Amino acid sequence: MYRIVRREAIRPAVTLLEIEAPLIAKKAEPGQFIILRVDADGERIPLTINNYDREKGTVTIIFQVVGATTEKLNHVMEGEYIQDFVGPLGIATHTEGRKKVAVVGGGVGCAIAYPVAKKFHDMGAEVHSVIGFKSKDFVILEDDFAAASSVLKVCTDDGSYGEPGLVTAALKTLIDEGNEYDEVFAIGPMMMMKFVSLTTKPYGIKTVVSMSPIMIDGTGMCGGCRISVGGETKFACVDGPDFDGHQVDWDLAVQRSQMYQDYERHAYEDACN
Ligand code: FES
Repeated sequence: MYRIVRREAIRPAVTLLEIEAPLIAKKAEPGQFIILRVDADGERIPLTINNYDREKGTVTIIFQVVGATTEKLNHVMEGEYIQDFVGPLGIATHTEGRKKVAVVGGGVGCAIAYPVAKKFHDMGAEVHSVIGFKSKDFVILEDDFAAASSVLKVCTDDGSYGEPGLVTAALKTLIDEGNEYDEVFAIGPMMMMKFVSLTTKPYGIKTVVSMSPIMIDGTGMCGGCRISVGGETKFACVDGPDFDGHQVDWDLAVQRSQMYQDYERHAYEDACN
């Protein structure tokens, strides 16, 4: 069992949990994820690690309530326990040797984009961050991104804060202004990552996306997380989660991510009742 040492509601339906997990904290790196179960009957869900404290032996995750399991997780309070917390899983994001990068985050995906931006920054790269949200009420980690970035653009869909519009438009402006990026790293909703990849492709800028398809075992055995990259089948849990965004078969990835939508909606409604 894993104890919640800190719980913070950071935005409506967006919660931070700091969890006692010393063995994971010892090895975790930006870009890796954990799989958790809230209770013994719970489903397994992957969540990317937001932060870790090797000395305290804790791992931080930030999640948005989007379904039955995140609804249940949102009711676990400080001092209480969750059943399973397994990791770190996946390959850490490659941050070595980059001189100038753009990090693009969408919504709660910014919780994962931030540690990657910080790692690039700590490794000596010039970091430009572009982070997008539905509206002002959903903006998270702005100060953290500002500390790790020499340029920060905050975008909102409804224009209630920062630049109005999508992250892809802000990214394109930065590229057209003459910024030569070694790499663009994107994490957020699948459609956002697809369109970031389409934006950078004509410029030939290497683009890495962090995929989070449906996962079950997290060890490459069940096949649940398979995606097609460059015509080859890959398992996001062991071959990723980072992949070349220009090589991902986005239509297949989107189709697979929507396979259980009806079931998920019913489970969520049951969890709320
Ligand atoms: Fe089962 Fe990746 S989660 S193969």
